Amino acid sequence: MKIKSSKRNFFQRILGLPVTSEPKDSTCWSYSDGKLILDLKKVPELKNPGGAIRLEGRDLPERILVFFGEDQQYYVFKNRCSHVGHRRLDPVPGTNTVQCCSISKSTYDFDGKKIFGPAPHSVIKYSAVVDGDKLTATIS
Ligand code: FES
Repeated sequence: MKIKSSKRNFFQRILGLPVTSEPKDSTCWSYSDGKLILDLKKVPELKNPGGAIRLEGRDLPERILVFFGEDQQYYVFKNRCSHVGHRRLDPVPGTNTVQCCSISKSTYDFDGKKIFGPAPHSVIKYSAVVDGDKLTATIS
């Protein structure tokens, strides 16, 4: 299967450096009692299709990837490739896929199902609801 990849050089892939950054405004999100709340007004990174942020630390039980797809939907994934390196993921703009930042490029569809690469299984996609400017995802 022919897949498209994010532009990453060999060293970026060896080191597992993702394309996706943490949000510029760190006050845009909170986490409590299994709920991730994101204030979309504070996240210009998610305004355009293919845009993404990664959330890590604080009390989050997992690394999280949030992205806005070409289908105008928001997605929240556990940001952990199911392959042995458990590297971070990035959306690949224009492809409706999410890809591991490592050298092996395991690739998943927007349901988290693996469609390419050595990863043994899907990645976890969390349910997300948008109400106005507030996105709420249940992380469990
Ligand atoms: S860690 Fe993702 S393909 Fe190896």
